[in-house]
Amino acid sequence: MTDLNTPWWSDAVFYQAYPRSFRDSDGDGVGDLDGVTAELDYLDDLGIDAIWLNPVMVSPMADHGYDVADPRDVDPLFGGIGALHRLIEAAHARGIKITMDLVPNHTSSQHVWFREALAAGAGSVQRARYIFRDGSGPHGQHPPNNWVSVFGGPAWTRVVEPDGNVGQWYLHLFDPEQPDLNWENPEIFADLEKTLRFWLDLGVDGFRIDVAHGMAKPAGLPDMRNPDLPMLTLDDDDPRFNHDGVHEIHRFIRRVLNDYPNAVTIGEIWVFDNEDFAKYLRPDELHLGFNFRLVRAKFDAVEVREAIENSLAAAELAGSPATWTLSNHDVEREVSRYGGGAAGLARANAMAMVMLALPGIVFVYNGEELGLPNVDLPDEVLQDPTWERSGHEERGRDGCRVPMPWDGGTPPFGFSTNPDTWLPIPAEWAALTVDKQRADEDSTLAFFRRAIHLRKQTAQFSGTDITWQDTDDEALVFRTGGGLTCALNTGSVAVALPAGEVLLSSAPLADGELPPNTAVWLI
Ligand code: GLC
Repeated sequence: MTDLNTPWWSDAVFYQAYPRSFRDSDGDGVGDLDGVTAELDYLDDLGIDAIWLNPVMVSPMADHGYDVADPRDVDPLFGGIGALHRLIEAAHARGIKITMDLVPNHTSSQHVWFREALAAGAGSVQRARYIFRDGSGPHGQHPPNNWVSVFGGPAWTRVVEPDGNVGQWYLHLFDPEQPDLNWENPEIFADLEKTLRFWLDLGVDGFRIDVAHGMAKPAGLPDMRNPDLPMLTLDDDDPRFNHDGVHEIHRFIRRVLNDYPNAVTIGEIWVFDNEDFAKYLRPDELHLGFNFRLVRAKFDAVEVREAIENSLAAAELAGSPATWTLSNHDVEREVSRYGGGAAGLARANAMAMVMLALPGIVFVYNGEELGLPNVDLPDEVLQDPTWERSGHEERGRDGCRVPMPWDGGTPPFGFSTNPDTWLPIPAEWAALTVDKQRADEDSTLAFFRRAIHLRKQTAQFSGTDITWQDTDDEALVFRTGGGLTCALNTGSVAVALPAGEVLLSSAPLADGELPPNTAVWLI
């Protein structure tokens, strides 16, 4: 329904491919870009408009690519830059856009800049690219402030100086292998511009900007008031993030992007106050921002409605389309979040219909279309830095990153020719392979495909507003500007179907009623 005056992304369905886990083309047990290229027909058939690739730049992979050692090259693990060229060409030939992750808050500790900073010592221009400080306490033996790393433990690590003695500390909001850059330094801006232009000139259609609410730090680095709160807690009063100076950085990025009018920026913005959130989407900043309210909502009609209302209000304040996502590589998969088993899957499918009915941009995370649950992995295979940093208290995010099952009856299910995949794939996923689901009209995959195609092809999926109909607290019903009605039942008894002709339901309907854990579209 996009006309020539609206940007291609205004109602797009993005597919997030976590490259390690999508498909392995070279038998090393880790997914790669040629693996994505090999499955473009699969993605095209699903009906998606664009792919978001998690970071594929050169990286020692301490945080699976979010630790970038060379921002202007593709890691050989993912097939090198040639593989990205092949993917862009093949995707564009099918009308599919390619967007990639950009990580401006930090680099890898293996980045040449960080190695130079360690070698050059305190007070050097090389150290001024990062955030080095003397420690507190009489011998500088304590960190400069009380900030904690998002992955657990202190956000500071002390270094050994060129003279062999311990000395300054450097800031890392994430892993120690991910030192934060100093965004007060103009050199960092200049280098980012080079990076942006490098990928855009190569044909990339935009960026998902990692930790877009990070980067700028408040003067004097004041202590946190609540160092014990986990990251996903609603706490905008956190000096590590959402400092006003970040907007200058986004304006800088936008000035570069304006030279590439068909390219989009989508910020990862963990900011919950709507006015603060909307600031990131001013006309001279980001095009889009991830709104995580739907991810945080339980399977409960009141919570889901609140999340939707809030996200729409934030988008309206910003004058930018809303974005919707139920999962990604950082959160427990929704099938498990909503209770697991058959009920969890039914709820996840119902929520997918709610998401796909809403005005704006939708992000589907690879494997969501297969109804994959989170996986309880054994301790010895865990790789997320969170596991070690939290002293084995937080298991981390590996459970939502297990490779996709493609075909066959035993692991690795065609994901790789190598049985030793980077994370093990559970044997019971034999029932969830793409091949199996493709052959079954009642599968989750068939359902997603139908839903995405209906969203694209049905005129009623239009308009930017929705109106709510009165219901009790166990259901919600809204109508889009174009005249689509979407109803969701989160309760334990069936409710009456709203008026209209049924277009799709997430589970079979009976006797004019909407069963529990089910959603329906009507026109
Ligand atoms: C973002 C990414 C996450 C990564 C972190 C540090 O939150 O989504 O996966 O670990 O940034 O770069």
